[in-house]
Amino acid sequence: MHQDLKEILLTQQQLADKTKELAQRISDDYRGKKFVMVTVLKGGFIFASDLVRQMDIDVDINFMAVSSYGSGTRSSGNVKIVKDLDSDIRGKHVLIVEDIVDSGHTLSFLMQLMKDRGAVDVKICTILNKPSRREVDIDVTYLGYDIPDEFVVGYGLDYDERYRNLPYLGTLKEEVYNS
Ligand code: IMP
Ligand code: MG
Repeated sequence: MHQDLKEILLTQQQLADKTKELAQRISDDYRGKKFVMVTVLKGGFIFASDLVRQMDIDVDINFMAVSSYGSGTRSSGNVKIVKDLDSDIRGKHVLIVEDIVDSGHTLSFLMQLMKDRGAVDVKICTILNKPSRREVDIDVTYLGYDIPDEFVVGYGLDYDERYRNLPYLGTLKEEVYNS
């Protein structure tokens, strides 16, 4: 698996340091509140599990899975719920945790959905951001790293369901896409 990588963009240590910093901010901001963390599957699962273990507050840990119609590595505005929450979020403070904001469609859809369902407050936390790819404007309150417009894998992110378990973030060699 490691030999398929072209370049490492973020090391395991950089990801851990940033995650800890974000977890501290989140703990300070949500302490004493009715707090639900909604992790977006599958990509968000590694980041979320690191994040919650660095938080020292009560949190209801929940998951959603969505898919967006669209081909290949591009997502579109049509987001479909594949797995829904198992908690009622009415009256709760919701934090949506994702791996990356790319076009912004996924998070824009989820943010509106949580508001429609009666959350008192909805904020977003992502470890990665590709600002140059944004198609819809969204406000990311807790952000890890801005990265260039390159396809990345590792730390939860996949290419064709592979590489999610890499502990760092990197780009793939050209030949991997052609094989
Ligand atoms: P958005 O709706 O365009 O913001 O799409 C975000 C989703 O696309 C993320 O949850 C990722 O699953 C996926 N994605 C975006 N960029 C990458 C990438 O560089 N590598 C792997 N997955 C990506
Ligand atoms: Mg994904």
